[in-house]
Amino acid sequence: CALTGAGLSTESGLPDFRSPGGIWSRYDPDEFAYPRFVSNVEARRSYWRWSAEFYPGVAAARPNDGHVALATLERAGRLYCLITQNIDDLHHRAGSTKVIEIHGNASRVGCLACGREWPRAEVQRWLEAGTEEPRCDACGGILKPRTISCGQAMPERETEAAFAEARACDVMLVVGSSLVVHPAAALVPVAHESGASVILVNLEETPFDAIAKVVIRAKAGETLRRIAAEVVGTEGNS
Ligand code: APR
Repeated sequence: CALTGAGLSTESGLPDFRSPGGIWSRYDPDEFAYPRFVSNVEARRSYWRWSAEFYPGVAAARPNDGHVALATLERAGRLYCLITQNIDDLHHRAGSTKVIEIHGNASRVGCLACGREWPRAEVQRWLEAGTEEPRCDACGGILKPRTISCGQAMPERETEAAFAEARACDVMLVVGSSLVVHPAAALVPVAHESGASVILVNLEETPFDAIAKVVIRAKAGETLRRIAAEVVGTEGNS
């Protein structure tokens, strides 16, 4: 089982959250917290201004060696499940299919009232045409990308599935996460307590380094490419 965080996508040109220069060093996370988003029209306008600026980078990003290596491990029958905190859709674009997106996916936008959905690319066109606060044209409800913001309820089915995988796996390969946001971070000690060996690939120390069998303090892309090459016996080709 693999658990990935924003650190895996920095090599695709996307900033992570807590590294120097990361998103939370430039924006206040409380500004985008869910309770504020649903209750305050100015907070929604500010969120959509940020999202309109940030989305083109996400849409243009391409999977890097790390995403490709994880898809290679899945195709070789060595990776049974990929749990990601990332919302950038890069695991799907790299060809991974057994993906659990516990923080949702930014490529779709939904109406919080009636559930109707739109591709995020379509909403981008509305924003670029001057819409400040997209609303549902069916029921007038508030629209929000299908991502999980701070203070928003976790997706039940995905969260349960992720913890079931963490309890069942032999190895938990954790890549590019500071492991400070729960409940996602708790997947690591749960896997460890269930007998899995934890492998941590991260540029910085995390609160769970002590329970890891292996800590690889190196960049995710090159590390995963080499792991896939050794495990699958090929030079990590996609
Ligand atoms: N290779 C390996 N590790 C990297 C790389 C890289 N190329 N780039 C960054 N890292 C490491 C950083 O050192 C950092 O410890 O990845 C980690 C990223 O941590 P965060 O920025 O906190 O990202 P993440 O753990 O995914 O955040 C979890 O927080 O704000 C919420 O919902 C958001 O899903 C996100 C959650």
